[in-house]
Amino acid sequence: MPKTIAIYPGTFDPVTNGHLDLIQRGAKLFDELIVAILHNPEKKPVFSLEERIEMIQAILDKDYPNVRVDAFDGLLVEYAICQNAQVLIRGIRAISDYEYELQMALMNRRLEPRIETVFMMPAEAYTYLSSRMVKQVSKVGGSVEGLVSPLVAEKLREKMGVHP
Ligand code: PNS
Repeated sequence: MPKTIAIYPGTFDPVTNGHLDLIQRGAKLFDELIVAILHNPEKKPVFSLEERIEMIQAILDKDYPNVRVDAFDGLLVEYAICQNAQVLIRGIRAISDYEYELQMALMNRRLEPRIETVFMMPAEAYTYLSSRMVKQVSKVGGSVEGLVSPLVAEKLREKMGVHP
């Protein structure tokens, strides 16, 4: 039986508990899961690519032997083919995510029909959680406890120059 390899792509600036929830669900469903971080300096992320990779690796540690973290640039479907992946995972939280995700999934299918997009829902508690919100709250000194891992909360405090 060939292995099913899934890619979970994103910016992960920074990784939230919603992302981690999907990683855990994806790791159960697929033989191998690659968390693929987009290298796009034009987006001016708060965390460098290396910081984003390190944070996810440190959080996952050795608990998920079938998950690895990687970076990509250029076309996602080309990267997926290079990795011998068959599936792209994307999270859908509220219905507002759907339109953009549908466009992206259909564009990716047009570009590469061998790759299938699978939409997954995170736990209800993370429905309104996003990296953008977490950064906004953190920037003005608000608590992000329960929304990101303690490591990410600490790194956010350092980045934002906010000290409790
Ligand atoms: O976490 P994000 O920012 O919602 O992730 C978006 C991402 C990285 C999945 C998307 O921007 C992407 O795939 N970029 C790579 C370029 C590409 O392949 N574009 C064609 C799909 S529309």
